[in-house]
Amino acid sequence: MEIKRKQYADLERLLFTEEEIRSAVQTLGARISADYEDKEPLLICVLKGACVFFSDLIRAIDTPVSIDFIAASSYGGGTRPQHEVILKHEPSQSVKGRDVILVEDIMDTGNTLLCLKRFFEETGAASVRIAALLDKPSRRCVPLQPDYSCFTIPDAFVVGYGLDYDEQYRSLPEIGILSPTVWDK
Ligand code: PRP
Repeated sequence: MEIKRKQYADLERLLFTEEEIRSAVQTLGARISADYEDKEPLLICVLKGACVFFSDLIRAIDTPVSIDFIAASSYGGGTRPQHEVILKHEPSQSVKGRDVILVEDIMDTGNTLLCLKRFFEETGAASVRIAALLDKPSRRCVPLQPDYSCFTIPDAFVVGYGLDYDEQYRSLPEIGILSPTVWDK
């Protein structure tokens, strides 16, 4: 409890409560259920940040889904477009002919998801859509938008509900803005 109390003290302010997140994820689940009514989409969780969102989202979808997990690392860095993304952990099943939904915690510059989307299209997926819990469009540097998102956020450092700073804060059930005094040291 002491550690979590300290984590809350590191927040400048809360952005979304547990209830707001729950409601937005349920709404998104209903939308995906309707859009994929006659299909069995393959939802792919992009580790690690999306893990909490992913586990709630798949349970909010009424139609049958398959799940898988990938981990990606970026090289070439920063906000430079077209940088390289390497898969550190590949999906355990073939995506050939599947309707893939890439599930991310946040779409920031868009580099990671652009590379991943292209990779799965080239690997033979029938379709590839993106579900991002948070969309930060002010930072986008590639021409890509999420097909589904729960919240559009300002250009701030957000943590909680899977999102981290230096591997901390992922287990907070809310999403908050991290105080600059923490990251601007
Ligand atoms: C975050 C996030 C996305 C990526 C988004 O991952 O989960 O994968 O950055 O950034 P982009 O739109 O600018 O490409 P991170 O590298 O922090 O790893 P994590 O998910 O393991 O925390």
